[in-house]
Amino acid sequence: MTLFSTRDETEVSTTTEPALGGAPAGDGGNRAASGEGLTVRGLHKVLGGRTIIDNLDLQVNEGELVSLLGPSGCGKTTTLRMIAGFLDPDGGSIQVNGREVSHLGAEKRPSAMVFQNYALWPHMTVFKNVAFPLKLRKRPKKEIEERVDAVLELVNLLHHKQSRPARISGGEQQRVALARALVQEPQLLLLDEPLSNLDAKLRVKVREDIRGIQQRLGITTVIVTHDQEEAMSISDRIAVMNAGKIEQFSTPADLYARPRTEFVATFVGSLNRFEGSYRDGRISDGSDVVGVRPEDVKFSREPVPGSLPAVVERVVPRGHFQELFLRREDALLRSFASGESPAVGEAGHALITRAMTFRGDQRVDADQPVNGGQA
Ligand SMILES: Nc1ncnc2c1ncn2[C@@H]1O[C@H](COP(=O)(O)OP(=O)(O)OP(=O)(O)O)[C@@H](O)[C@H]1O
Ligand SMILES: [Mg+2]
Repeated sequence: MTLFSTRDETEVSTTTEPALGGAPAGDGGNRAASGEGLTVRGLHKVLGGRTIIDNLDLQVNEGELVSLLGPSGCGKTTTLRMIAGFLDPDGGSIQVNGREVSHLGAEKRPSAMVFQNYALWPHMTVFKNVAFPLKLRKRPKKEIEERVDAVLELVNLLHHKQSRPARISGGEQQRVALARALVQEPQLLLLDEPLSNLDAKLRVKVREDIRGIQQRLGITTVIVTHDQEEAMSISDRIAVMNAGKIEQFSTPADLYARPRTEFVATFVGSLNRFEGSYRDGRISDGSDVVGVRPEDVKFSREPVPGSLPAVVERVVPRGHFQELFLRREDALLRSFASGESPAVGEAGHALITRAMTFRGDQRVDADQPVNGGQA
């Protein structure tokens, strides 16, 4: 990725405030040649006597966007802060484009981090906010102006150059924070819940902006989120985290279709979950866990092979589809259906077209993933 032509690669490192992210490394010019992205091996962190990150491995290819997805407290921010250099690991290695960086402070790493709360300076204009990391590095005035203008154009904010953060919208502030990271020309872009302060509509817009810019620049990116829809829609691959470990690392489609554990199946996508066993389209007593995706439940007025009588107990309009609650003798099934909605109380038939079985959290049915679920 090269945004700017004026870049001088022999930079003097300076100490920046943590919220600014790191400075580009002196070998920035070689970034395209190494072609390795981010490699994390055996990352380990104990906090307050508790293992928070447990021997975590992660490989992000150059130019790839990977999401760390997991519930609150699973260790996403801790992982990202160690990669960025704001927190010392207790063990493990971190390589960016083939270079070990774990001994370096954040300001010396070739990465830039965008924090959840943006951390913009309210008294500075948009231009000055974005220019700040370059000023710290004492870049010439003309170069700063060119680089900031280029990056503001990229995030579509050139017209707000002289505005103060309070005078622009939340989504625009988020893009300023992104610009302030991008202006550093990082080899690795790290974003911690970058959309969490935005309303639903703006989230979708800004996440598409981020994805578009990331793809245009081909910049290796790790983005933290607890929102599965967000992760599914922008990621090349998703690392699903649970209690300090990565449970499964794969493409969005593969994670959804072939979850390896009950945790992943529940966390990515929606699931009907039953304790029991599954055979011939029915759920009966048993000690396993049966998971059925709502789109794998079909309601019909006439019986079809394998279906059981069902009554529509509830209909929840979901915009372009409906969620039906179907009462069968063996289970209450949620079903996603499109087209004309049946009425509450209507009698018909419900068919399970596909089910997953988990034993001790692990997937055990025949449809389980090959290659250990790795993409
Ligand atoms: N300084 C600390 N001392 C002790 N425990 C800590 C410290 N910092 C974080 N933790 C614990 O580490 C765990 C992981 O925290 P982390 O902030 O990485 O979670 P997260 O996945 O980012 O969650 P969220 O989605 O809520 O942001 C939590 O249980 C947290 O309480
Ligand atoms: Mg967090």
